[in-house]
Amino acid sequence: MRVLSGIQPTGEMHIGNYLGAAKQWVEIQEKHESLFMVADLHALTVSQNPKNLRKAILNKVIELLSVGLTPEKCTIFIQSHVKEHAELAWIFNTITPLADLQRMTQYKEKSKKHKKNINAGLLTYPVLMAADILLYQTDIVPVGKDQQQHVELTRDIARRFNLNFGTAFKIPKTILAKSGAKIMSLQDPKKKMSKSDNPKTYIGLFEEPKMIRKKIMAAVTDRGKQIIYNPQKKPGISNLLTIYSLFSGKTIKSLEKDFQHEKGYAGFKKSLAELLISSLEPLRRKRKELLKREVYVREVLKQGKKKAELIAKSTTQDVKEKMGLI
Ligand code: AMP
Ligand code: TRP
Repeated sequence: MRVLSGIQPTGEMHIGNYLGAAKQWVEIQEKHESLFMVADLHALTVSQNPKNLRKAILNKVIELLSVGLTPEKCTIFIQSHVKEHAELAWIFNTITPLADLQRMTQYKEKSKKHKKNINAGLLTYPVLMAADILLYQTDIVPVGKDQQQHVELTRDIARRFNLNFGTAFKIPKTILAKSGAKIMSLQDPKKKMSKSDNPKTYIGLFEEPKMIRKKIMAAVTDRGKQIIYNPQKKPGISNLLTIYSLFSGKTIKSLEKDFQHEKGYAGFKKSLAELLISSLEPLRRKRKELLKREVYVREVLKQGKKKAELIAKSTTQDVKEKMGLI
């Protein structure tokens, strides 16, 4: 089985991204042939400051390496380094109905949010994503729910091409992040933890211990004093229990028992803060080390490009021949 996923080089990763996505990628690389890509071309669909973007791309690679992806076990590369992505996207543009793109939820949402910059790339974004996936004859695409519609469109494009020109593509499947891994905001536990929110609402993956303590102690909790899991009545404490459970590997039931004699939330919160600090310490250390090893990081990307290109070129060659390009 071959797995591919991508992440945009924007925003800093938080524990929600980690528990909902990145941690799974680290497990996947052990089991399947995997490719992970930084989607820099996708990031261009909203306006970017070139200086910041340049930094953000390398930073994202460093973050991926810090959470545990390793070039010995998977292929890590930058989308724009493999020209075939843009080339195949163009070809797919010519077989994708405009109406299919216009009904994509993300397109509708982003055109509302970026009214001054509704560029053609915002519309054809899923066509590029289809190229990302299909170039590599991907079997499985691990993504969040918001990207599922784009993978569905990818399947349509693959089927249409195969039908019209002969079979060139595998039909990929989505796997969604495990349920129960939805981490909520620390300030409003009815809302998803999100990197576009106020920094008080999330714990960054590479945050300093002092900040982690401060944010956890300030996390909104509920009335009453008991540490019990009840997302309806006690969304704040339930979210903290979920985080505790996922980082410690203990069940929520056993955590409720461990903390049943607490006379308030403070002791539980202190314990959670220390757990987060010690769990994230190796990631923080790895990142600090990698920030000083740009030559190594660039070498990882060079090797990644080489491996990815080999597959991408062979698919593109086949596609061009099937379409009648000489
Ligand atoms: P995003 O930050 O929206 O680009 O999402 C990157 C990945 O992290 C996607 O697979 C999302 O499903 C996942 N993710 C984002 N926020 C959360 C959250 N609060 N809880 C769990 N998973 C999340
Ligand atoms: N569009 C995805 C997101 O914003 C990132 C992405 C780009 C991707 N290309 C991909 C994900 C290919 C999976 C497969 O989250």
